Amino acid sequence: MAVLRFPDTNEKIEMEPEIRAALASAGVDYERWTLDRVPADCSAEQVLDAYGDEIDEMKRRGGYVTADVIDVKPETPGLDAMLARFDKEHTHSEDEVRFVLAGRGIFFLVLDERVASVEVGPGDMLRVPRGTKHWFTLCEDRRIRAVRWFQQTEGWTPHYTDSGVDKNFEPLCFGPVYLGPRVATGISVDRA
Ligand SMILES: [Fe+2]
Repeated sequence: MAVLRFPDTNEKIEMEPEIRAALASAGVDYERWTLDRVPADCSAEQVLDAYGDEIDEMKRRGGYVTADVIDVKPETPGLDAMLARFDKEHTHSEDEVRFVLAGRGIFFLVLDERVASVEVGPGDMLRVPRGTKHWFTLCEDRRIRAVRWFQQTEGWTPHYTDSGVDKNFEPLCFGPVYLGPRVATGISVDRA
């Protein structure tokens, strides 16, 4: 279950209908999907097959042409560099759509110029429309496995705002506690 927070007022929303309504008013879709189709250790192919109907329906809804499964673990090579690409405010020219199978992470979303954080975990489906300012970080366990949808076969690229607003928000997870400071790799944004 996701946790929606508005840091400026310390408002915390943990009930699915309220989360869905609050995000929908800003054009962000949030849904709870069941996780009982596949065992936790199944392959990406098994996931895509087991959720084939939902994946195809999502493609129809959003005009997505492809889907895959991203699997990030603490030992994933280049993890810090990967996280550093996405933990600064950016937009995409296509939607960012995730159905979380395992692990946790936080999406910070700028909704009507107000920052909200959405901590997502297993069973959470989040669709962030193209052009929405946002950034993302993992929780302490540095683990996330999720189905992703794409509108372009070449994948998607972060367009950084360089606003620095992301520096004002601590990536605190409700589940596993985020331990470290913001990932710093020295990689310049224009290489990403
Ligand atoms: Fe993104």
